[in-house]
Amino acid sequence: MTCEHRCGNACGRPAPNTSDNAYLGDLIAEAVSRRSLFRTGAVAAAVGVAGSIAVPAAGSAEDSSMAPRGLRFEPVAPNTADAVVVPEGYRQQIVIRWGDPILEGTPEFDPDAPTAEAQAGQFGYNCDHLALLDHPGDRGGKVLIANHEYTDEPLMFAGYDGDDPAREQVEIAWAAHGLSIVALEADGRSGELTPRVGEELNRRITVTTEFELTGPAAGSELVRTTADPDGRKVLGTFNNCGGGITPWGTVLSAEENFNQYFANADEVTDPQARERLARYGMPRGASGRKWERFDPRFDLAAEPNEANRHGYIVEIDPFDPDSTPRKHTALGRFKHEAANLRVAGDGTVVAYMGDDERFDYFYKFVSSRKMRGGGSRRAREHNLRLLEEGALYVAVFTGDSPDGEIDGSGDLPSDGEFGGVGEWVLLAAGDESFVDGMSAEEVYVCTRLAADAVGATKMDRPEDVEPHPATGKVYIALTNNSDRGAAGLPGADEVNPRNGNRHGQIVELTERDGDPTGTAFSWNLLLVCGDPEDSDTYYGGFPKEQVSPISCPDNLAFDPHGNLWVATDGNALGSNDGLFGVALSGAGRGQVKQFLTVPRGAETCGPIIEDRRVLVAVQHPGEIDGATFENPASAWPDGPGGIPRPSVVNVTEKRYGRIGL
Ligand code: FEO
Ligand code: CA
Ligand code: CA
Ligand code: CA
Repeated sequence: MTCEHRCGNACGRPAPNTSDNAYLGDLIAEAVSRRSLFRTGAVAAAVGVAGSIAVPAAGSAEDSSMAPRGLRFEPVAPNTADAVVVPEGYRQQIVIRWGDPILEGTPEFDPDAPTAEAQAGQFGYNCDHLALLDHPGDRGGKVLIANHEYTDEPLMFAGYDGDDPAREQVEIAWAAHGLSIVALEADGRSGELTPRVGEELNRRITVTTEFELTGPAAGSELVRTTADPDGRKVLGTFNNCGGGITPWGTVLSAEENFNQYFANADEVTDPQARERLARYGMPRGASGRKWERFDPRFDLAAEPNEANRHGYIVEIDPFDPDSTPRKHTALGRFKHEAANLRVAGDGTVVAYMGDDERFDYFYKFVSSRKMRGGGSRRAREHNLRLLEEGALYVAVFTGDSPDGEIDGSGDLPSDGEFGGVGEWVLLAAGDESFVDGMSAEEVYVCTRLAADAVGATKMDRPEDVEPHPATGKVYIALTNNSDRGAAGLPGADEVNPRNGNRHGQIVELTERDGDPTGTAFSWNLLLVCGDPEDSDTYYGGFPKEQVSPISCPDNLAFDPHGNLWVATDGNALGSNDGLFGVALSGAGRGQVKQFLTVPRGAETCGPIIEDRRVLVAVQHPGEIDGATFENPASAWPDGPGGIPRPSVVNVTEKRYGRIGL
């Protein structure tokens, strides 16, 4: 099952957040369902259609005229094919696969004789977040930046023994993590993208690449180790999940389930350090991949602070292959899913970020310095420092009245959706802590404990968050939370409205007065996912015949028309995962349409929706219980006889026309 990823998002583990923050009222599933019924009637009347409009017969002219721009395609039906399935009239191309050479002199992929040296020059495993930037020195060319979240050793290596991995296998895994930067040639007629092997910007960043720690906690006692007594140089990045891009041309990459790589948290002698490690879910005893046997920094008994040097947002300059990538302590340390930016009118940069754990929190960072425009070298150098200092906030969500009605406070959208208000609670600003009993350095490094202390709202696993480029509204994918309402754990509240939540929801957050630097917001539920037939789901009021079923939202993106696109991970409705478009305004608001599905066992990652191209990362194809290298559960993308290879796929309209028009 995809819910047992080796990335660390195992649904069966107990959640470590045992703080006693107040919960938000009673179960309101009935309220959601009541509104759902209300909207069903309202929207059907508004669009003047009864029956099927969004899932029409192929080539329906009626659908083309009804659907919003960007979403005029034939929805892909749920399926379990071992393939990427795209709409009628679209085609797909594999851009790059795990093992494809990137750096000069790197051998071709050979799964029967892999080496760490070869992997260090090849595209890594389990691609997740993608960024596609214009190549600065190659007109029409592109630069792809991909995260490689984690490794699936039983699917990668013949005869893999998890109790006794070989050094070479571990070193291959180190080289298969991190990021790839690869220049692409873009065919102007077909839209095809082809890697330019050995191009000067091409780079691999791995578990052994040197990083610089920046911000208020750099150099603090909490991040000093034997190998780095100054606490400023860290080796490597791992479990890089989602990410974002900055207006100054860098890429952000989020260190997510970094805990799983460390061992022996129970042998740490200092009780406070042990408690902090426990809040981050650090393993007792051996780690899953046994890296501690090959590099003692992964053994917490020997090096308890090494874990404090991971779990950050990292920033990479893809246009300077010699630059040292940086880890920004000012954005806090937790299981970062992603970071996406909005720039306020005065140039202040705001980063929205989720902590992907059951019952963990939603954060934002507000820079203290302002972004400079103009594109000069000096402006860029200034902007490269913006994420090094600012204020860190955590969100408290409050529902409106108990019967689910909007309370007329004036802050809320009046479109009939369920919602409420909220507050950003300040944790630290620069070198100053606003949390009793914690120093600023402790807030930045032990951020979860700081958020516990101020009563932040426990969420259903915040995945990607994206501020809308035009409206500034922030969309938060809450993927699922099977433990909501379990014995001794928090029950449903208004923003997390279902106990035993298997399918997740998407929250729409509106900053008061449109000011992303402020401390007040309103919110509403855009979607409550699951079987559209069930009364505890909400699809903008559309009936089941008119929507594609969606479950477990994860990565988010926007198309050039302002529609939201949602990639899923762990679909609990029986279909493979997929990519969905949903309009945010007009009569189609909340109507979900599936654009593609990914192969068996895979999750859909990294979506990029351009005018004439959709790019997705197919992560962990064939990751199904019991599958191995010898007995794979998927042969995608190479076909019969091949092993599954995480890959990037480029989807275009057949004549390279515009997407969804
Ligand atoms: Fe790596 Fe939260 O998904
Ligand atoms: Ca994710
Ligand atoms: Ca995203
Ligand atoms: Ca996920």
